[in-house]
Amino acid sequence: MKPLIIANWKCNPKTRKDAEELFNKVKNGVKNTQKAEIVIAPPFVWLPILRGMTLAAQDCAWEECGPYTGEVSPQMLEGFGVKYVIIGHSERRIHFKETDEMINKKLKAILKAGLRPVLCIGEKKGENAKTIVSGQIETDLKDIAEKDLEKVIIAYEPIWAISTNEGEICSPEQAKAMLNFIRTKFNHRIIYGGSVDSKIVNGYLKVGFEGVLVGGASLRPDEFIKLIKNV
Ligand code: PGA
Repeated sequence: MKPLIIANWKCNPKTRKDAEELFNKVKNGVKNTQKAEIVIAPPFVWLPILRGMTLAAQDCAWEECGPYTGEVSPQMLEGFGVKYVIIGHSERRIHFKETDEMINKKLKAILKAGLRPVLCIGEKKGENAKTIVSGQIETDLKDIAEKDLEKVIIAYEPIWAISTNEGEICSPEQAKAMLNFIRTKFNHRIIYGGSVDSKIVNGYLKVGFEGVLVGGASLRPDEFIKLIKNV
């Protein structure tokens, strides 16, 4: 299986022109690369204008439609070439107060729409990583049938290792201990996220992660292309 490399653009870039430019640079830069499955996760509004690479959304609603001002449902995303939906990102948990119960509802809605959830889990600095991720996995994946679990991807992202937080490096060896722990609870694809760049990417893949979720480095097209070519 090729490693899955997801570019999480977060709330960037600021203009349509910049989004198209970034996307096209990456698309052209990686067009002859077969080494990885590359997915771009831009803000919702750029999804309909970006064509030619696999897309992911950064969040979604848990209902198909209805009186939910501001929300975008998985069914709506499906029509725009979206294959994956990131959910439970620490920024959504922290800034928008998303709970594990909400994330569990979103995960079910994503599966119902035939899309693949990328469930982010991870601990804050100073928290007990195993306790936190166990709780997250238990609630976020509650009542998901085994045949559906294999469509789920878990992204382990220690929150303190995200470049815009403390940005400390969680070494591949350190991350591997958590990978092994998560595997005792979830036996499908697990990827890593947190300050991944072109230099360290292979470290995480070598210890057994089956892909990476890339934030900051995915906004720098030369660096992101280099990251993919280094895989
Ligand atoms: P980062 O972000 O690569 O900038 O650390 C990763 C993420 O938050 O998904």
